[in-house]
Amino acid sequence: MKYLYLFGYPLGHSISPAFQNAALRACGVRRVRYVKNPMPPDKFQEIILALRAPHCLGANITVPYKQTILPLLDEVSPLAREIGAVNTVVKRANRDGSVTLVGENTDAYGFMQALRARRVNPRGQRVAILGAGGAAAAAAYALAEAGAHEIILLNRTLARSIELADRLVQKFRRMGLAINDWDALGKTQLLVNATSVGMSPHPDASPLPPHVLLAPHAVVYDLVYNPPMTRFLREAQAQGARIVGGLEMLIYQGARAFELWTGKRAPVRIMRVSAARALEEMIRAADAGHKG
Ligand code: ATR
Repeated sequence: MKYLYLFGYPLGHSISPAFQNAALRACGVRRVRYVKNPMPPDKFQEIILALRAPHCLGANITVPYKQTILPLLDEVSPLAREIGAVNTVVKRANRDGSVTLVGENTDAYGFMQALRARRVNPRGQRVAILGAGGAAAAAAYALAEAGAHEIILLNRTLARSIELADRLVQKFRRMGLAINDWDALGKTQLLVNATSVGMSPHPDASPLPPHVLLAPHAVVYDLVYNPPMTRFLREAQAQGARIVGGLEMLIYQGARAFELWTGKRAPVRIMRVSAARALEEMIRAADAGHKG
């Protein structure tokens, strides 16, 4: 048996194994399983050992290691290098029998595909991103590439916003950038939550301070997918915003990763159905747990 791993910590919320295994089955890839491999911070270095093991075919990297993994890899694709975050590792077999660990980023693609599917075009728009980690970096990069007019970065840790803004300004010199300008929220056409705030098991939290007024007709996009209706989305909808949940991005980033690992076309529809079912089951089990 060979394995594709999901590395991160904690991983309780993740439904990636459900839809990746469904995709492997649907494409006739036998004797390969996608499994969670939670690595607490004191075991972070072991990710590389696990990746180099012959039975490992590749991996996804998630919170909180998307940025810290970069220097440990043999190669990083130009896109992942520009974003400064890796969510997928591909193992390239060399002629001399050695293996090269290549870091890729499929989050930016997944982020944009989900917006396209909802016919949201950020060209010329002022957008705000909550967060400044790996997911925020991918979202910011995708929005800048798509022609956003101005990006406002809002994050708890100022130094990380500054670092991300520095990276963006080098590539997108003509785009406007602002940091921690919370007052601008009332004038942004698209607001993205790229923090982990509101994610299960803490669904009562919101990444927005109380009583923030959004722009009329704003699009509000939460990268959190568990729960599907976060407090952030619920409150935005109550203000009249159009909302986009995180499940489509999860599926599209996973589909692109699947294609990189297997060389096969990802069965996106099958992945979507399995993801939705797994999420429902996880929520039902959590509810039963609370009641029990
Ligand atoms: P990822 O690579 O998946 O984006 P990450 O790098 O750990 O994960 O980033 C998580 C983001 O959520 C960060 O922007 C983080 O803010 P800090 O940079 O200040 O750590 C944000 N975040 C996580 N928990 C938070 C909380 N309780 N309040 C506000 N922001 C939070």
